[in-house]
Amino acid sequence: MAKVWSDRFEKGLNPFIDRFNASIEFDIALIQEDLDGSIAHARMLGRCGIITPQEALQLESGLEKIRSEACEGVFQKNLTDEDVHFAVERRLIDLLGPIGKKLHTGRSRNDQVACDLRLWLRARIEHLDEKLERFQISLLVHAKKHLYTLIPGYTHLQRAQPLSLAHHLLAYIEMLQRDRDRLIDVKRRVNISPLGAGALAGTSLPIDRQYTAAELGFSSIYKNSLDAVSDRDFTVEFTAAASLIMVHLSRLAEEVILWASDEFSFVRLTDACATGSSLMPQKKNPDVPELVRGKCGRVFGHLQGLLTMMKGLPLAYNKDFQEDKEALFDTVLTLQASLEAMSILMEEGLVFCTDRLASAVASDFSNSTDVADYLVAKGVPFREAYQMVGRVVKSCLEDGILLQDLSLQQWQEVSPVISDDLLEKLVPQQVVASRMSEGGTGFERVAEQLKYWEACLACT
Ligand code: ARG
Repeated sequence: MAKVWSDRFEKGLNPFIDRFNASIEFDIALIQEDLDGSIAHARMLGRCGIITPQEALQLESGLEKIRSEACEGVFQKNLTDEDVHFAVERRLIDLLGPIGKKLHTGRSRNDQVACDLRLWLRARIEHLDEKLERFQISLLVHAKKHLYTLIPGYTHLQRAQPLSLAHHLLAYIEMLQRDRDRLIDVKRRVNISPLGAGALAGTSLPIDRQYTAAELGFSSIYKNSLDAVSDRDFTVEFTAAASLIMVHLSRLAEEVILWASDEFSFVRLTDACATGSSLMPQKKNPDVPELVRGKCGRVFGHLQGLLTMMKGLPLAYNKDFQEDKEALFDTVLTLQASLEAMSILMEEGLVFCTDRLASAVASDFSNSTDVADYLVAKGVPFREAYQMVGRVVKSCLEDGILLQDLSLQQWQEVSPVISDDLLEKLVPQQVVASRMSEGGTGFERVAEQLKYWEACLACT
């Protein structure tokens, strides 16, 4: 079948090259945005007197007909349709005859695809923001329940100081908020209209770019037509922001995997999200967080792919840009699915084992800093106090006991400034309660944060 290209072509494409060149198999995902952009363009052509108002209406109704065909799943793409833009135009000409041939007036696929992709991503960012909020809420629900549940805090994955479990979970809510901020910031730069830039240089026809931009809800227009058609930096920015989200998800995923192990036993996976082994009947595997952790690779890969695809490209449009789509689409799909899966995991997939957590924090030396702080309050210089407690820990380890097992008399042999008020300070609840510095894990501080997030996240 004949291509839409001009008559300068005499022979058909080599069939393999035809397929190699085509993007229709994946850019069909842009059909709704392509129709939105085309409708705005057709209206603008009518308003500017480039086509008649009746012709504009006919084009719009033809495009709406294609929209319903697409929604009902009956829109037929042809083997000869190179991409979604040609597919829509071909169908419009099928439906309307010669009038359909007026749609592409004053437009190129270069500004068209640039416009479609921005519209598509803008909507996805809004959707992702909702998903991120849902995930934050799923964490907040646990946090609210576990203000007074303690969990060992780690540095170097070695027991460091005990924490309110709520504080630990709120740390993820903070990261996710920055993720949301980043996406909203990217959206500001996505939300600029390239439409009307033409192939690269603008057009001699009296088009109105402000009108199409306003119709499509863009906040402004690209000021330079070359930049408009050859800029894909927003795909890189978005994929970078997506990569950071995946990093954050992977860290929680990794923690859940550790927590669900026999060695930690801090959480129990419910049947809703855990899977069995084909061989070992006792197994309950954390496939969900493992998959999320594993999916980081493809998102980071897309970031690298997009950067490499763009590097060194001369202005303006180059076919290399066609490669942006699968990377962007897969990034969005992976992110949506990972956020959904992690939300479900939090909502119904795990239960914190509070008994086990309580015994974990009561059976280590994570209250050592508190002894040093106690000595400091009694006038001992910190470095000296630190050394003294280090020696006590060493001898306790040799005797197989904990700091709280030492008697007052033994403590007074360590330092005469110690009195019996030290003993209560060693209790894990007290250790946590005392961390009252701003941003610390002290219950009162964490309670303030819970309130703050409850108000921000509008959850019940
Ligand atoms: N399918 C193409 C893409 O994704 C659309 C733009 C094609 N423009 C061109 N001059 N060949 O980039």
